[in-house]
Formats: sequence, structure tokens, C-alpha cells
Amino acid sequence: MTKYRFLSIIKLVINMLVNSNEMLLKAKQSGYAIAHFNINNLEWTRYILEASEGLKTPVILGVSEGAIKYIGGYLTVYHIVSSLMKDLNISIDVCLHLDHGSSVESCKKAIDNGFTSVMIDASQYPFLENVKITKEVVEYAHTRGVSVEAELGHFGGSEDGMEYNTFHARVEEVIPFYEMTKVDSLAPALGSVHGLYQKEPNLDFDTMKKIKELLPIPLVLHGGTGIPKEQIEKAIDCGINKININTELQITWAKEVRKYLDENQEVYDPRKIIGSGKDAIIKKVQALILEFMKKNSTKEDIDNKI
Ligand code: 13P
Repeated sequence: MTKYRFLSIIKLVINMLVNSNEMLLKAKQSGYAIAHFNINNLEWTRYILEASEGLKTPVILGVSEGAIKYIGGYLTVYHIVSSLMKDLNISIDVCLHLDHGSSVESCKKAIDNGFTSVMIDASQYPFLENVKITKEVVEYAHTRGVSVEAELGHFGGSEDGMEYNTFHARVEEVIPFYEMTKVDSLAPALGSVHGLYQKEPNLDFDTMKKIKELLPIPLVLHGGTGIPKEQIEKAIDCGINKININTELQITWAKEVRKYLDENQEVYDPRKIIGSGKDAIIKKVQALILEFMKKNSTKEDIDNKI
């Protein structure tokens, strides 16, 4: 029995979510990126799990505070993910991650309710305040086996219905930030935005590369929707090992559902309406995972690697 199969059986029995450390470290060593998909409800969680299981690739399920509120609460999210993993016999590594945790309290609540990774986003505060808040989260998380992502600079665009301005991470802040916080991964804002781009994305690859050379930890790219393939490849070469996607799945799903409703005006069963976006989401998730895991990888490449 292979090591992977053995671990799969153990995980299946105890239904274990994992933190993001091992999968991101492996991605860093091998030069690819793990996909982070935001979940918005039970159905999306299921589709993303099935899509990732189909490829036998690890996945990060990100949940924003807005989505947590919409779904019902931190514990409800945890139970949806962990129960689906059991019912669907999910054997891959799955990390449940709080996306843009806005406070120490929110991160602690996620951790106490079974999340295996948190992002503390204190990027709107001055540098030393960001350090202080991030450090407090790291100390709480690390004693509980939970990984922590933090943000330097600030991602602009639209998220959870709010608009934000962009400012870039500064290279000289990166090492002091890492040494003072001991964070596990860093999201440096370098031109990507949440939501739709108004014009062609303009990422600061030079700074990204410099940060990669300075830092021993994986880097995270937020605002993955709408970044052309060549720029994604370049970002991975410049040290990005986790790519966050939300809007792209929303657009993919909404387009299919709109079409289905147009063509089936008499349908009122929510399972048919919501489910009409299933195949499109699964296809999109699998295409993005393959794109992020290795340039031009095929499903067979990925299967063989694992
Ligand atoms: P997009 O909505 O632009 O894909 O960004 C998602 C994201 O970065 C979540 O943190």
C-alpha cells in the first residue's frame, strides 16, 4: 500500500482536515501553486470537493466572514465541510481557511470551531499594529496546529460588497514582519485586486521575486480572477504558491443558472436551479487546479505525481 493510500484511509476514518503548511511547502519546493476557492454555500463546497477529489489534488476552501454569516456561523461551515468529506469519501488533503479574518477574535472563533487555517488581515493598520495583531493570532493558532496567513500592503477592489483601495507591500518590511510574527504564509499586495479588473492586471513581478528571495515561506496571490494565464505562470515563478479565486466561480455559476432559468421558466425546484451550475463549476475548478499546479499539466501528470 502506498504512503498516500495509507494516509487517505487514516484521514477517512478520522475525517481530518489539515492545515495548509504541508501542501504549501510541497508546492514551494516543486514550483506550483495550490488553489484556494471561496465557498458560499453547501452546494459549492460539495462541487469543489468533488472536483478536487476527481483530480486527487489538495485544496483550500476559503470562507470570508461575509460568507460565514450568510451560511449560519463558523460551526455550521465546519460541519458542512467535515460532514461532506465523510459522506462523499473525500480522501485528498482539505484545508478549511478563514479568508480575510478582520480581528483576533474572528480568527480565534474560527480556530475554536475547527478551521485549520486562518488569514489575519490587519493590513489596514500601521506596520507595527499589523505585527502585533498578527503575532497574537500566530501564537494562538500555532499552539493548536493551525496555520496563519497575513497581508502586507493592501489588496484593492471589491470584496463582500465593500470597495477597497490598493497599496503595495514594501520589500523592506517583509523580513522584519516575518521575524516578528513567525507567520506561515504571506500575501503581499502587488497590484492584484479582488473582483473584476477594470483594465489588464499589472502585477509587480520584480518586487514579488525579491520577496520570494528574501522569505523562506510561501507567498499568496489574492484576486486570482481575471489574471491571464501567462501572468499566473510568471507569478508562480516569482514565488506564488497559493492562488485565491472567488469571483470567477461566481460568474461561472451565475451564467449557467441564468441560462437555465431562461430556458426553463416553469422550474421552481431549488435543487434544479442551484444544481444547474454544478458541471460548470466542477469544470472550472479542475481547469484552474491544473493550471496552478504546473504549467500545461494534464490530469494524468497530476495523477502520476501523486
Ligand atoms: P477574486 O474574487 O478576485 O477571485 O479574489 C478572491 C480572493 O482573493 C479571496 O481572498
